[in-house]
Amino acid sequence: MSLSSKDIDGVTAAALEAIAGAADLDSLKEVRIAHVGDKSPIARANQSLASLDPSARAEFGKVIGKAKGSITSAFESRQRVLEEERDARVLVEERVDVSIAAKRTPSGGLHPLTILTNEICDLFTGLGYRVAEGPELEAEWLNFDSLNIPADHPARTMQDTFFIEPLDSHLVLRTHTSPVQMRTMLEEKPPIYVICPGRTYRADELDATHTPVFSQVEGLVVDRGITMADLKGTLDHFARSIFGADVKTRLRPSFFPFTEPSAEVDFFFNGRWVEWGGCGMVNPKVLRAAGIDPEEFSGFAFGMGLERTLMVKHGITDMHDIVEGDIRFTQNFGSGLR
Ligand code: FA5
Ligand code: MG
Repeated sequence: MSLSSKDIDGVTAAALEAIAGAADLDSLKEVRIAHVGDKSPIARANQSLASLDPSARAEFGKVIGKAKGSITSAFESRQRVLEEERDARVLVEERVDVSIAAKRTPSGGLHPLTILTNEICDLFTGLGYRVAEGPELEAEWLNFDSLNIPADHPARTMQDTFFIEPLDSHLVLRTHTSPVQMRTMLEEKPPIYVICPGRTYRADELDATHTPVFSQVEGLVVDRGITMADLKGTLDHFARSIFGADVKTRLRPSFFPFTEPSAEVDFFFNGRWVEWGGCGMVNPKVLRAAGIDPEEFSGFAFGMGLERTLMVKHGITDMHDIVEGDIRFTQNFGSGLR
């Protein structure tokens, strides 16, 4: 291969032009392979020096050395420039604006009814009660007959109770949590101390203090020597723990077929008395139906509405807010996760 100084000038000019024209580091890398690397024209010219005679080698060696030097330094300075440009761009593009509000994934929360249910269960398990459960789709016999509610009782009529078809299935959506009383007494022997929260159903219109699907919490105690004073003391403790020491409640004589005597518990809210729940001493007939000797054991029971409890506890004036599931409402109660 024979090379002239003119050829070297051409190779150098082409290399310098390519280096200057490299717009970014990736293209400069390609330019390096083509014009600076081992297989570039200038490298090959350098290799061909070996075949020249010594005087020509010295002369061309100088020309090539100078050309290589200028190509290398042009390459290095272009590389520095492009690296600085890249660093500056990365600083801008990958900048983090710490003042921008972060996008937060909303963390789920428990419904205030669930929070309240947990609170009541904690309260009563702390007193030695067990949490009992029963099905929402209940045998008519357990919901009514076993509790001494006769077939012609007004609560049974089509207006109040959701009967399940076919009617001869004798299943209802339980109208209260009281069938869990009977289930418990049939399953275990006294002493019995249970609390039973759960969903209940009645054909009531949704209004400020009623909903067709609501929740109750049932309490049942059967033991030796249980009196109405134990019931009153338990209800007072329950009310004060949930609502605070200054809550106003009253007991009003009432009637439930499964308790004798019976009472209604009311609380004072929004300038009027609102019915909180029913209670009483377990009717001896019911104890007997469950195979418990009323001469040996006595008991009390109560059943409170949980939506109503929540209303007083948090000053909620409309039941709609509790049942509609709008998270703007539920968020006010925190996540409820402990
Ligand atoms: C009962 O359901 C009886 N099982 C309570 C009971 C238990 C008495 C144990 C004696 C011994 P009552 O039908 O009154 O009773 O309902 C109890 C409570 O459930 C009411 O005081 C009220 O707080 C709540 N409640 C009843 N219907 C609704 C409704 N449609 N919406 C919201 N809460 C309701
Ligand atoms: Mg009532």
